[in-house]
Amino acid sequence: MPVLSRRTSELGTENAFVVLAEVSNLQRQGKDIISFCIGQPDFPTPVNIQEAAIKAIRENKHGYTPSAGILELREAVARDIGQRRDIPVSPDDVVVGAGAKPFIAYSILSVTDHGAGDEVIYPIPGFPIYESQIRALGAVPVPIPLHEARGFNFEPRELETRITPKTRLLILNSPHNPTGGIIPRPAMEAIVDILRQHPQVWIFADEIYSRLVYEGDFVSIAQFPGMPERTIICDGASKTWAMTGWRLGYAVNKTLAPAFARWVTNTESCASHISQWAAVEAISGPQDAANKMREHFLERRNLIVNLLNQVPGVSCQNPGGAFYVWPNVTEACALIGAKDSEEFRSRLLNEAGVAVLADIHFGSRVPNEGQHIRFSYAASRQAIEQGVARLAEFIRANTRVREKVVK
Ligand SMILES: Cc1ncc(COP(=O)(O)O)c(C=O)c1O
Repeated sequence: MPVLSRRTSELGTENAFVVLAEVSNLQRQGKDIISFCIGQPDFPTPVNIQEAAIKAIRENKHGYTPSAGILELREAVARDIGQRRDIPVSPDDVVVGAGAKPFIAYSILSVTDHGAGDEVIYPIPGFPIYESQIRALGAVPVPIPLHEARGFNFEPRELETRITPKTRLLILNSPHNPTGGIIPRPAMEAIVDILRQHPQVWIFADEIYSRLVYEGDFVSIAQFPGMPERTIICDGASKTWAMTGWRLGYAVNKTLAPAFARWVTNTESCASHISQWAAVEAISGPQDAANKMREHFLERRNLIVNLLNQVPGVSCQNPGGAFYVWPNVTEACALIGAKDSEEFRSRLLNEAGVAVLADIHFGSRVPNEGQHIRFSYAASRQAIEQGVARLAEFIRANTRVREKVVK
């Protein structure tokens, strides 16, 4: 029997999809599950964007486009990315792809060599595809831990100790999946100060949640002098305009744009022609629907944080962005006798019908930071209220030690 490559056998995944399979299985058995697993807006794509796509279909926009994307979209992206960060961006610096996700691989492919010992620093917890792609593409993964006490930022000193002459890329993600944390200006300044000492390091700024910031202004590393040249700004249509299934994202960097376009030619050929026209409308058309979605997310964040902090054994920071909360459930695990967040997650799903992800789905657990689970609050108000009520009841009903003490 022919064998699979080692790289394929070891390829990581997004465990959200594994948990989703568990959830569907339980639902097929007739179980009532409230799910907080999926990292995507629970709204339809705004109607003006749908109409733009239908128009593109009717106008026979059916063929391949240049690999970098249609000029109209690259112009819109350049204007939008530039204006929101107050930096000059040329359409030639922009490459469009099938989502933001492919640019994680294209960036690693473009700045590291397979098996050469080139190192990539990335956050843990973090979007699992970072580590998976670093490994699959033959680079060396160098995780940097985020700390709850720092609002889920890393310590600058810890960045300094991780950078070596072999470091090629630093991945930053603000607002952050899974914690919802943001990198505030002083923390970004500290990162920039360190990177100035290490000109060999590229930065992958995953800014896919940049429009979903609730506390203060969005800060991009590309706003600091000397940084735009070294920064790959990665953003896309998925989260802002509820377009995850349209598969449309983009990356911006003057030097790397031709390399990215070549990777696109070698893999996807181009992003969906229809989705590209839809994205032109998403970026350049009215923003009412996107603003409304953001308002809903903010209301839900306030609701879920407030409710979670009333649950015994659970403490939840108020995250500054995205649509995730990352409550600390260390004490809740102790109360119900779960050995860790993964056992807690599994019991919560099977015994209480609430689906969440555990910290181990986002890289190895950070030592001394306790146990965490992730809720995506891209869910209705009613689902949030019922889901957290189930969580509270689940903990209450299973708190044997406390019951004994009370009796
Ligand atoms: C941090 C982060 N980066 C990138 C992506 C990928 O987004 P896209 O749908 O544009 O590929 C996601 C999606 O969940 C994400 O959470």
